[in-house]
Amino acid sequence: MKTKQIAAFILSLVMCLFLIACGATEEQPDRVDELVGNETPASSQTAGTDIENEIQGNSQTETTEEENTGSEQQEASGISEGQVFDLENGTVMLNSGYEMPILGIGTFRLSGSEAENSVYWALRDGYRLIDTARIYGNEADVGRGIQRAIDEGIVTREEIFVTTKMWTDDFDNGAEAINASLERLGLDYIDLMILHHSQPSNDVEAYQAMEQAVSEGKLRSIGLSNYYTPEDFDRLVNATSITPALLQNETHPYHQSMEMKEHLQQYGTVMESWFPLGGRGNTQTLFNDEVISGIAEAHGKTSAQIILHWHLQAGNIAIPGSSNEDHIQENIEIFDFALTDEEMEQMTGLDRNERFAGY
Ligand SMILES: NC(=O)c1ccc[n+]([C@@H]2O[C@H](COP(=O)([O-])OP(=O)(O)OC[C@H]3O[C@@H](n4cnc5c(N)ncnc54)[C@H](OP(=O)(O)O)[C@@H]3O)[C@@H](O)[C@H]2O)c1
Repeated sequence: MKTKQIAAFILSLVMCLFLIACGATEEQPDRVDELVGNETPASSQTAGTDIENEIQGNSQTETTEEENTGSEQQEASGISEGQVFDLENGTVMLNSGYEMPILGIGTFRLSGSEAENSVYWALRDGYRLIDTARIYGNEADVGRGIQRAIDEGIVTREEIFVTTKMWTDDFDNGAEAINASLERLGLDYIDLMILHHSQPSNDVEAYQAMEQAVSEGKLRSIGLSNYYTPEDFDRLVNATSITPALLQNETHPYHQSMEMKEHLQQYGTVMESWFPLGGRGNTQTLFNDEVISGIAEAHGKTSAQIILHWHLQAGNIAIPGSSNEDHIQENIEIFDFALTDEEMEQMTGLDRNERFAGY
């Protein structure tokens, strides 16, 4: 009898220990959630505002160990921590909490049916990012290309990311300029609006108009273009509330924007390259560069594809412009290879801090 009592006591003791152990493991996921919850995307200056908290909360993704390792590797290329370029899915998480495609179609110098067709072909080929601007005079054409793709069931509005820019002439009337761009594009909201150029006399007011439009749901993310010194970037940032999600500057192998990319890291702001191929009239200079054409030959790719893949691997969003159906397709066929560390170093060595554009 005594032995039975001892056995029962030992059994209940074991059961108790087992239940305690189960309780402990069940608690772990909550703890992990808590930790992940703290790892917000690079925070915005207005992380305290309700709207932005809502946006960030809704779109946050869990950071895995693998992503962290990727993040460390990419930091060396000037990519901000927490802004891992996902080359498999072709996206990056912005500091606004929205996911953005890292390859898109540019539409500078395209108008009428040319712009409409380029946007339509790009969406048909799998692009999900479109770059336009009020000053290009083609927002309505771009809007028609988007609508055609939506009508044909190729994409939904939610699947695409549309960027437009506020021109300097409009900086005193930002709210009107935003409404006019929405109207011309035929959209209810714009994924990203950026100020087209630094203009110290009134760019703060223009940026504040974009901040207001974010709170009204007209714009999702906001950013800047053509700010070429850390001082100029900080001037705007220190006078406003929402940290720019993105800076769009002339960036290509001969002008790699390393100083600005390093400066952006503290803000979680990502670099987007305009003239990614050197711009119209300059592309052959880059395509025929011996280093670039040599790497292209080694991979059985074109120079354009090597340059575009380099942008993504170096942590630059790229928006090559094209009105040529074949080029548009060629430019998205860049996700099936990678440049070696040595090739990346060779590409880094091409930097001359030399711009093609004179503005
Ligand atoms: N924020 C700013 O101030 C600013 C300034 C300039 C541009 N941007 C934006 O950045 C985008 C990109 O710049 P960009 O279009 O001026 O210059 P880009 O993309 O560097 O170069 C465009 C040129 O490359 C050619 N091209 C494209 N793909 C090609 C390929 N696979 N093979 C051979 N040639 C190819 C195009 O010709 P085809 O048409 O024949 O393909 C065109 O002549 C613009 O479209 C615009 O959205 C912004």
